Amino acid sequence: MGLVDVSRLPKHVAIIMDGNGRWAQARGKPRTLGHERGADAVRATMRAARRLGIPALTLYAFSEQNWDRPEAEVNALVDLLCECLVSERNELVDNEIRLSAIGRLHKLPERAQSKLSALSSETESFTGMTLTLALSYGGREELVDAARALARRVRDAEIEPSDIDEAAIELELPSMDVGPVDLLVRTGGEQRISNFLLWSSAYAEFYFTDELWPDFDASSLYRALEEYQARERRFGLVPGTKTKPAVNESSDELERAI
Ligand code: IPE
Ligand code: IPE
Ligand code: MG
Repeated sequence: MGLVDVSRLPKHVAIIMDGNGRWAQARGKPRTLGHERGADAVRATMRAARRLGIPALTLYAFSEQNWDRPEAEVNALVDLLCECLVSERNELVDNEIRLSAIGRLHKLPERAQSKLSALSSETESFTGMTLTLALSYGGREELVDAARALARRVRDAEIEPSDIDEAAIELELPSMDVGPVDLLVRTGGEQRISNFLLWSSAYAEFYFTDELWPDFDASSLYRALEEYQARERRFGLVPGTKTKPAVNESSDELERAI
């Protein structure tokens, strides 16, 4: 981590963990082995982020669109999630990591939902880092759900249409609980967002790597952070400008960035 400046870390790192299937296929193994090795990369990345002091890490573990994969692969992913929610419990507790989850969680099988809510409750007071798992998650779906919630509030005369501003929308977006994404990493060589955090990535720095997710480790994270710290974030401004920060953007973030 030699070149990472721990005084200028992103507050929120989000990762599209891609390339598990290709990792396995390159070895002549079933795709599910890639997912299993991917879980090891999750542990390594989570530890490294926690040690550095990154406040929030969001991992894209299963998209809404991934439900349409072959049933055997979907079942294997759900089983792996359930295993990890048991095997990683001590890791989370010992490191005071708060577990959170976003997505249409009600679509997960009951056994996954119950393990997820039990571990989330057990860790809810921890402040070391917030680890958010995006499960059955889609950025468009999250925006649709927010629009429906706001429409209901207008219908019930709780708010006027003119009350719907950025702050009101953000209150309906669970992904914004940990603030906007500063650094968005995608492994696996593709350069696309694949319906991940559409709103909260509005001003994220993107970092793409050809490395496949099971190969990602602490040094991969440090490389991403070094590149992030070499970027100049302008938020639509010109360098040196001081202005009112964007919604949910702390002024110290803006000053650091410019
Ligand atoms: C990412 O790896 C994990 C999930 C989407 C669940 P993939 O399974 O997409 O792996 P590739 O992209 O096919 O190699
Ligand atoms: C994005 O990867 C979803 C996750 C990493 C969970 P995909 O492999 O599903 O995305 P596409 O198909 O390459 O866009
Ligand atoms: Mg993929």
